[in-house]
Amino acid sequence: AQPVVDLSDNVLTARLPSGDSVTVYLYGATVTSWKTSNGTEQLFLSSAAALDGSKPIRGGIPLVFPVFGPPPKSHATGQLPQHGFARNNYWEFLGKSSSESLGRKADDSVKLDFGLSSSMLDESVRKKWPYEFGLVYSVTLGKGKLECQMHVQNKGEQSFEFQCLFHTYLAVKDIHKTAVRGLQSSPYVDKVRSAQTFTEDSSSLSFTGETDRVYTPPTDPKDNTLVPLTVTEDGKDTFVVTRDALPDVTVWNGWEDKIKGMGDFEPKDGWKRYLCIEPGCVSSWTKLEAGDAWEGACSFESKL
Ligand code: BG6
Repeated sequence: AQPVVDLSDNVLTARLPSGDSVTVYLYGATVTSWKTSNGTEQLFLSSAAALDGSKPIRGGIPLVFPVFGPPPKSHATGQLPQHGFARNNYWEFLGKSSSESLGRKADDSVKLDFGLSSSMLDESVRKKWPYEFGLVYSVTLGKGKLECQMHVQNKGEQSFEFQCLFHTYLAVKDIHKTAVRGLQSSPYVDKVRSAQTFTEDSSSLSFTGETDRVYTPPTDPKDNTLVPLTVTEDGKDTFVVTRDALPDVTVWNGWEDKIKGMGDFEPKDGWKRYLCIEPGCVSSWTKLEAGDAWEGACSFESKL
């Protein structure tokens, strides 16, 4: 058996013979569902998420590019909306690659490529950020695993600076029983505490209130690689998150009050059932010279 890939009404679905599946809306190239073979949904999606292209999709994996958060007014991204334009534009489906071409067993995985380039943006957006670029976003569905990779190319004649992030809403059963390992001794900027910088002292970060932090964990001193993070529930491992060329991780849960104020977040007690773990490069700017390219990637492995 081969993976089955279907694209209809701007929604792409892919299913492996093992039963693992993924759904990607071309609007924002947003992954809205990732199920493992036993049918368990691994991502949180708001039941009030706009799925008609009228605003970014609340939940799943929205893409953040070329700026994270509110753009600094004095920066070239200054006129763009929060989190940039990748999550609220239609991408094109570039095609699928079989696992054989990726050096894996035939039915083990499928890679789905999506593209967004400057020529696909509205004139009004291009005026706000007038750079020539090409993005290729690859989503690889494997058994119990989802990999996300972004390729950014500067196709113009002037350099530009960008930030990029995978705004992943992981589904958890109960945020009060959820924790994250792998952040100990990491510096972080705490947006809930006036964007001051602190150092994480906990080996297992748990949640008791609104959390909105950008961590920049130190690399493994042995080989300089980025250390995987592990999400646990009730002390059991549920997700392992790995990163490649993405030095930062945002950890976000809006908690009860903030979520109450978000019109597209339903059900209102849904804050208990998600944790955003967002690998990215957002604590500084990545500069891309004319003609150059950059690549960053992360993976989510379900341990459930
Ligand atoms: C997180 C930010 O990544 O995204 C939060 O750190 C923000 O500050 C959250 O509230 C959601 O952003 P938005 O634009 O999707 O409502």
